[in-house]
Amino acid sequence: MTTTLLSLPSILALVMLAAIMPCRAEFTVVLPDSSALVDAPQNGFSNLARTDPAEQRAVYEIMAATGNAWATAIPDVCRGRWHGIECMPDRNDVYHVVSLSFGALSDDTAFPTCDPAHATLSPALLHLPYLRSLFLYRCFSGDHPQPIPTFLGGLSPALRSLVLRGNGHVGPIPAELGNLTSLRVLDLHGNQLSSSIPESLQRLTHLLFLDFSYNQLSGPIPSLRNPTLNVLDLSHNFLHGQIPATFGQCDSLIKLDLSRNRLTGSIPDSLGNLASLILLDLSHNSLSGPLPTSLGKLISLRALILNGNYMSSATIPEDGFAGLKELITLVLSNMGLQGPIPESIGGLLSLRVLHLDGNKLNGSIPQSFRRLEKLSELKLNDNRLSGPIPFSREMLWRMGSKLKVYNNSGLCYDASNGRSEGIDSMSGISYCEPQTKKVVVGAASASISDRKTKHLSSRTNRRPPTRLSSHAPTHRSGILRLLVPIAGLLLSVLPLL
Ligand SMILES: *[C@@H]1O[C@H](CO)[C@@H](O)[C@H](O)[C@H]1NC(C)=O
Ligand SMILES: *[C@@H]1O[C@H](CO)[C@@H](O)[C@H](O)[C@H]1NC(C)=O
Ligand SMILES: *[C@@H]1O[C@H](CO)[C@@H](O)[C@H](O)[C@H]1NC(C)=O
Repeated sequence: MTTTLLSLPSILALVMLAAIMPCRAEFTVVLPDSSALVDAPQNGFSNLARTDPAEQRAVYEIMAATGNAWATAIPDVCRGRWHGIECMPDRNDVYHVVSLSFGALSDDTAFPTCDPAHATLSPALLHLPYLRSLFLYRCFSGDHPQPIPTFLGGLSPALRSLVLRGNGHVGPIPAELGNLTSLRVLDLHGNQLSSSIPESLQRLTHLLFLDFSYNQLSGPIPSLRNPTLNVLDLSHNFLHGQIPATFGQCDSLIKLDLSRNRLTGSIPDSLGNLASLILLDLSHNSLSGPLPTSLGKLISLRALILNGNYMSSATIPEDGFAGLKELITLVLSNMGLQGPIPESIGGLLSLRVLHLDGNKLNGSIPQSFRRLEKLSELKLNDNRLSGPIPFSREMLWRMGSKLKVYNNSGLCYDASNGRSEGIDSMSGISYCEPQTKKVVVGAASASISDRKTKHLSSRTNRRPPTRLSSHAPTHRSGILRLLVPIAGLLLSVLPLL
């Protein structure tokens, strides 16, 4: 039956996974839970039931149009089940087709595949009045790309899931899809759809999952204000205009991905209302500053990704992100940010990935960063940071080459943290001068006394002054005691880890 497909709770799990590992797009296959069917029998399938004759003829036509004429040889399509058809009997022992799926998802998921040279979508689909799910994956991606037929707007009003993924569809999204008002899932990911997103889709007020990512859609984003929506992914298109402030009313959102479009204007304050949001990715647009402090209200957020929006002379708000205690990934690269890095960032104890590179951040690296014991990737390169690098030797080893501090105006390595020879990320970084001002690096060092500038490579056999390292171990063990219970707590709220 439906063992190969994922039900709605599973997409939430996938979204969580995507938030934790946001770099790779997840592959989502979704079907509504068919146990909710009103016409589902309480005690299994009857031996007497037969497929509704009109629906049977429709299935033959649909199968033939996709290049699966073999189905015509099956005397009763609901009884001669193949992977990719689901039926439910009514109280009169008549089977109705509730789900049709096509496409080779994986080696062990053998839905009928489409004939790439000839496959079409047959209007016979309109004769399946009980259809709840239509799923086509890589079906028309051959030599003759097809638009999404407008007649799909006339599919059963019971349709809850329409997935046309990676099919090579061209042309616009038909406005008629706005008639499918029972839809929970609308997934058109990975086609070549163009034109703007039809306003009529605002009528889909029950949607949980909307994915139009990886297309060529243009024009503005409709002002969705849909309180049921969990997932909204419009990334990798050519959408322009502003982010609608109405998105703040989609307060069930757990994933909002608008990355890699051409969006302008500022980030609406109203996004701070999305208290369930786990992933917010607005990267690679042309959004302008300032960074709204309201983002600090997104207390469920695991990933905040805003890189590649040049917000000339914006700053990181002082305590702006202090409330984001669940945050695992914070990416603010290449945004033209200036001013200091707030100490409060070091209070985000769940952080594993922190990218602040390619900005104009100045001042020193906050001491509080020493508390980020889960951090495995830190990019601070290409800024104007100065002063001592506050990390312990253990932290440097842990991050290895995932720590990037090069091209700053005056960072130095504080010998009180232990020696740093052999730590790649520190190559080219000088020891801080313990007595005087701690600005020693690269060309800048030439102006300061060369006698006091000791590059790491020349220090391999020396021990740091004991005077400086004496208090460090006690300090660290105190932090460890504090972190162990916190780590336990986090594990219990991260069921997927
Ligand atoms: C669907 O919606 C369009 C406009 O969005 C409308 O013209 C059409 O009559 C509707 N009905 C059907 C069955 O497609
Ligand atoms: C950092 O830069 C800002 C403006 O870009 C400047 O006002 C401030 O004095 C600088 N701070 C330091 C510590 O260099
Ligand atoms: C150093 O970083 C700045 C950004 O702060 C960048 O503009 C510049 O090109 C970088 N220099 C080198 C040599 O990479």
